[in-house]
Amino acid sequence: MQELTKTKTMKRREFLRNAAIVAASGGIPAEMLATPLQTSLQEGSLPADSHPSSGEASLIDSEPVLQNYADTSMGIAFSVTDWANGYVICGEKPDLIDGKKVWSGGYRMTAMDNEVVQVRLTGLKPATLYYYKIGADRIEYKDGYHIRITGNEEKAQVYSFRTAGKEAKAHFCVINDTHASWEVINPTINKVLELQPSCVIWNGDACNTEETIAAQKRIFLKPEIDRRDFAARIPYLFCPGNHDNRGLANRHLERIWMYRQPEERQPRDWDLGRNFAVRMGDVALVGLDTGEDKLDTNPKFCNLFVSEPYRVAQQAWLRDVLRQPEIKKAPFLVAVCHIPLFDPRPKANPGDLYPADTHPDYSSNFAAWQRTCSKLWGPLLDKAGCQLLLTAHQHCYRLDKPGEAHRWTQIVGGGPDMSGEKKERFPTVIEGEVKDGKLVVSIHNVYTGAVQETLTIDKRR
Ligand SMILES: [Fe+2]
Repeated sequence: MQELTKTKTMKRREFLRNAAIVAASGGIPAEMLATPLQTSLQEGSLPADSHPSSGEASLIDSEPVLQNYADTSMGIAFSVTDWANGYVICGEKPDLIDGKKVWSGGYRMTAMDNEVVQVRLTGLKPATLYYYKIGADRIEYKDGYHIRITGNEEKAQVYSFRTAGKEAKAHFCVINDTHASWEVINPTINKVLELQPSCVIWNGDACNTEETIAAQKRIFLKPEIDRRDFAARIPYLFCPGNHDNRGLANRHLERIWMYRQPEERQPRDWDLGRNFAVRMGDVALVGLDTGEDKLDTNPKFCNLFVSEPYRVAQQAWLRDVLRQPEIKKAPFLVAVCHIPLFDPRPKANPGDLYPADTHPDYSSNFAAWQRTCSKLWGPLLDKAGCQLLLTAHQHCYRLDKPGEAHRWTQIVGGGPDMSGEKKERFPTVIEGEVKDGKLVVSIHNVYTGAVQETLTIDKRR
């Protein structure tokens, strides 16, 4: 018995250690800003170990994308065309005279890559304005001992972002179900840029079914729209949709959109890299990942998804984050997930008519799915006094007022239809802003360009 206890203790220790390693390898510690930028670089010339540009085609072929809005960290990703050792120079002064250079990747070695550079800035101050620029060394890698820097590309453009936190401006936008349609994404992004929120939540189905990293880059880093710098100054939060799980490349979407910082959650939740609980002024934003919309037992997917335990794990995570002081005390609690937790037309889901665990048909599984998520997370959100749940998925704008089934207001964002042929199927930008002590929510109709609906939400008690 004693031996068993000892083994269990060791296993637990080992698990915690391994979790710590995973956590550490995913991020850069607070001292990431410890290496001062070389003086020569501050003065505008190349540092001693840099090589002149090779003159080849551009190594960096996208604007930077700010990922995973948070109070003390920021993810910055950009696309590259060749093997590159990328970095970000970041500081609080517009001329970056105080700039620190942070390489891609985590501990031990940088994340040299030939597709995407991902840099994590950590140890940042909440609600603080930072300036940054991006660069990369072009790497010729023959083997472990024969490596050369054959060029350096550092963009002159200096961008800025502001971190989240209690003192940040409470102003967000939500976009969803863009499905890689430029016709939709272009006006949607233009609307967001016009509104200039503190952050944007991309509430899933950015993708369709993506089989290659090139296709993913096209969606998240190099969209074919007017403003390719769409996320260079306004940070994004990401709630995946079912389509963001589909396709071979999307099984590793973290190559394009990094997981959130491991230190944001306890070791038990180390694998919940998509969930977020972010305080932005008077608003607490809580993000849940509804996962695949088919049941794990659906034969179409050959046991390749394990959404069920994922949803259960998120219940434990949600229970804990709702008790965190900065979330608990926020006057407004806004939850976000891709698939709605409530559908006023239950009979529209034939799942009620079939044994949902066995029936392979999509729609027959949907109601069972919905009941599961609603049952797992709904009571916790209700108990915490969540006022607003922002969802997507159904490609049809809908406002579900509080009632017996749920005490929050549920908004279902519209889908990627710019034809104007079907009522309520217009794309939306859902904007929330705290004004005079109230959360004002405006639903912008991207098709007409007008505000479709506005609602005002009081502080929670
Ligand atoms: Fe969708």
